[in-house]
Amino acid sequence: MGVVRNLRQVSADDAGVDIAFRADVHAGLAQRQKAIPARWFYDATGSALFEDITALPEYYPTRSETDLLTRHAADIAAATGPDRAVVELGSGSSTKTPLLLDAIAPAAYVPVDISGDFLRDSALALAARFPAVPIYPVEADFTQRVELPREICPLPKLGFFPGSTIGNMVARTAIDLLRGWRATLGDGSLMLIGIDRIKDIGILETAYDDPAGVTAAFNLNLLERINRELGGDIAVENFSHRAVWDDVHARIEMHLVAACDMDFTIDGRAYHMAKGETIHSENSHKYGARDANLLLRAGGWTPVATWDDASPAFALILAEATEFRSAP
Ligand code: AVJ
Repeated sequence: MGVVRNLRQVSADDAGVDIAFRADVHAGLAQRQKAIPARWFYDATGSALFEDITALPEYYPTRSETDLLTRHAADIAAATGPDRAVVELGSGSSTKTPLLLDAIAPAAYVPVDISGDFLRDSALALAARFPAVPIYPVEADFTQRVELPREICPLPKLGFFPGSTIGNMVARTAIDLLRGWRATLGDGSLMLIGIDRIKDIGILETAYDDPAGVTAAFNLNLLERINRELGGDIAVENFSHRAVWDDVHARIEMHLVAACDMDFTIDGRAYHMAKGETIHSENSHKYGARDANLLLRAGGWTPVATWDDASPAFALILAEATEFRSAP
């Protein structure tokens, strides 16, 4: 079947710059605590740097999740059954996807990703490996409403949301996303979601601040991207990477820290940062077993199975879009 059709659902300006990127940067830098949403890390350079992160010895989530997918593939397949359309949120390079597709014999595969170049390359690679499975790539921001290809409409769905990407969202946004995807995938659909666990702070902080500096480069690339795409003149060398555990919110926060007072412009608009001031660039929330189940239920998904015997700890949870019954 191969790659059947490419659905593009992002809007770019005449220069090819994502309109939402520009808006988010200006709105985020106008806040008292400057903040830019983490999805803007993933231009071509950022996506490649993230791939490098997943190979770091300190960055355990990818290894733990891959280990769970490998060891429990048969159980996962038994729980989902065959012939579903697999819809992957934030497919990136789709490196974990073959493990799932091999196990469950899907009827179609729909990778959804905001990074168009990555999406095309990985869809082609998967098409070569799974010639019998029709692939419908969708270039879209999966935190917004996504229109699924109409060809998969009659098929039962399996959402696949690996990598603990749900952790990038604060609880309110995570629940909005889960509810939105419950509506998009429909009653009776399933969702296989990867959620990182709360663990030793040293392990967590090192995973987000590796000695080789790859995560630092990933974080700083956001500023380079602003300079490249939005005509910014930020002195990137005057910023440093910070990753710290916030126990109140149960999350790793990444910041870009200004080493000195500085002025810069973006799109000709002037900004000032004081020495020590930060741009908050990512949250990575971690969840205990009950926390994760509560989050899923609040989002309209009933957990039906959990695989979480990896080390360092990570969870793969299968949840079902069950009919709502009023309680008790
Ligand atoms: C891609 C969202 C799963 O939060 O662990 C890795 C991104 N940031 N290192 C994560 C990330 C810094 C990653 N996710």
